[in-house]
Amino acid sequence: MKQIRNFCVIAHIDHGKSTLSDRLLEYTKTIADREMQDQALDNMDLERERGITIKSHAIQMYYDRPSDGKQYTFNLIDTPGHVDFSYEVSRSIAACEGALLLVDASQGIQAQTISNLYLAIDHDLEIIPILNKVDMESAMIDEVSDQIIDLIGCEKEDIVLASGKTGLGVPDIMEAIVERIPAPEGDPGAPLQALIFDSVFNAYRGVIAYFRILNGTMRKGDLVRFVNTGKEYEADEIGVLKMTQHPKDKLEAGNVGYIITGIKESKEIKVGDTITTVERPCEKAIQGFEDVKPMVFAGIFPLDNDDFEDLRDSLEKLQLNDASLVFEPETSAALGFGFRCGFLGMLHLEIVQERLYREFDMDVITTVPNVSYNLMDKSGEEYTVRTPSELPEQHTIEMVEEPYITAQIITKPEFIGTIMTLCMEKRGTLTKQHYLTPERVELSFDLPLAEIVFDFYDRLKSVSRGYASFDYQPIEYRETDLVKLDIRLNGEPVDALSALVHRSKAEAFGRQICKKLKELLPRQQFVIAIQAAVGAKVIARETISALRKDVTAKCYGGDITRKRKLLEKQKAGKRRMRQFGKVEVPQKAFLDVLKL
Ligand code: GTP
Repeated sequence: MKQIRNFCVIAHIDHGKSTLSDRLLEYTKTIADREMQDQALDNMDLERERGITIKSHAIQMYYDRPSDGKQYTFNLIDTPGHVDFSYEVSRSIAACEGALLLVDASQGIQAQTISNLYLAIDHDLEIIPILNKVDMESAMIDEVSDQIIDLIGCEKEDIVLASGKTGLGVPDIMEAIVERIPAPEGDPGAPLQALIFDSVFNAYRGVIAYFRILNGTMRKGDLVRFVNTGKEYEADEIGVLKMTQHPKDKLEAGNVGYIITGIKESKEIKVGDTITTVERPCEKAIQGFEDVKPMVFAGIFPLDNDDFEDLRDSLEKLQLNDASLVFEPETSAALGFGFRCGFLGMLHLEIVQERLYREFDMDVITTVPNVSYNLMDKSGEEYTVRTPSELPEQHTIEMVEEPYITAQIITKPEFIGTIMTLCMEKRGTLTKQHYLTPERVELSFDLPLAEIVFDFYDRLKSVSRGYASFDYQPIEYRETDLVKLDIRLNGEPVDALSALVHRSKAEAFGRQICKKLKELLPRQQFVIAIQAAVGAKVIARETISALRKDVTAKCYGGDITRKRKLLEKQKAGKRRMRQFGKVEVPQKAFLDVLKL
């Protein structure tokens, strides 16, 4: 055990985590040069394209240390980089004794550097600060070193200068890992206690869980129990991960490995759960287990109603390897049959949408996303509201609570004013302002999650001209004043466009939708009133005047075949219309409004 080191790499997005990890794999000859593909650890296509690590992975390498001639086993545990997956980050961190804190020398410390660092410090990890990309002309070595010193309270000599591009500093990093990160502790003779920090789905082998053994020994063929779910399975195969799986007969305390039990659905295995043996179970589960709950909900409908069953099929397949995706059937007068889906956050929603499109060729409409609310009615009954239609009549409601988050924003001092204005407009309160250096300031806000679900990130970027990074963690539910905003066309409500909004935002939001609809709806042979209403009260209105639509008008007489083609096109377009009372709404109008 003395020769094992378990560590992760934490960094803000794009600070070079994958590139540097690849250099470590190369240096230890874990991958031969010719096998080397850029970013070997990101093995999902989508990850590669988006340059984000969606699912964490673990990999083992051997380091032959020149100074003592001994061979060390390094387990590098990769952590996902985005806030939607912060629970997974925290479990990966809990499986390590040390962390390489990577900071891009041309960018300096950013929001995720700090949020991940806090997680690592919470778990008492030894931090090795690394100043990366020092090969770049724009590298600010002294300034960023000062930021790091201020942030973690280390000495200048503790910071390793590195470049994932040229390989500079890699030998120093190897030595720092051996010298500074403590070897794992734990008793191989004790009852088995292993922490699951990740799982992946494999179409042939089922669910593969990655774990770190804190105590005890795991053997192939053992009957194992997952403590929190209470399920029991046989360990069909256990082993360690290099570039591929290497099966072993046993693994002892301190080690990182994988287990295959024939489980076919990823929701059967929960990240954060403890594995023990049925024969000699451990007394306690490892702390910190949470059942991850979706935070953001939206309806997903097929573009073509005939594709409903295909959509169900696709969602079920996605769920096999994405345990955090939940869905149930939902019907809408406007959009037909579809599903109400729950996501960890907005990025998760986008990923699901994109995977539906790429992997299953499904074109879908997504309704306005909203968070989930806790509601208590006048009779004292409590329930959860996840869709606009679930919100009861205002006079029956005693109290509604909405989820809040704490956000870290790192920026330049000149943008403090505009960022404060934005966060206040989003109903936020400033809780902390800290200068990391005279040129860089950390702001913390408490904000309703509902407000950042929308356009927060884009707005933040534009008010700071790109000089702000942002990260957040959920904190608690707080009381709120929630209303249901309805959109009506000539008095008929359009359910797909209803939204749950804070009372203070209802009017502005209603105006925006009415205006957009006015642009998008084709004129018809009668006047159309577009209204936004809260309860019986209309709070915004637009009118579309009547017109006899003549699509052939622009054809200047003449060519009859062209005229016929246009008329046929119009007919085809009709089939994609939805009817509200007398008013016809093209499918595309929904798509465009929902993009708002
Ligand atoms: P995420 O997985 O999205 O968090 O990104 P990452 O932190 O893994 O960053 P990645 O390794 O993908 O690198 C981001 C970009 O920086 C890529 O375009 C790399 O080619 C570039 N890059 C990484 N390391 C270095 C370096 O040391 N020097 C220079 N000049 N560029 C680098």
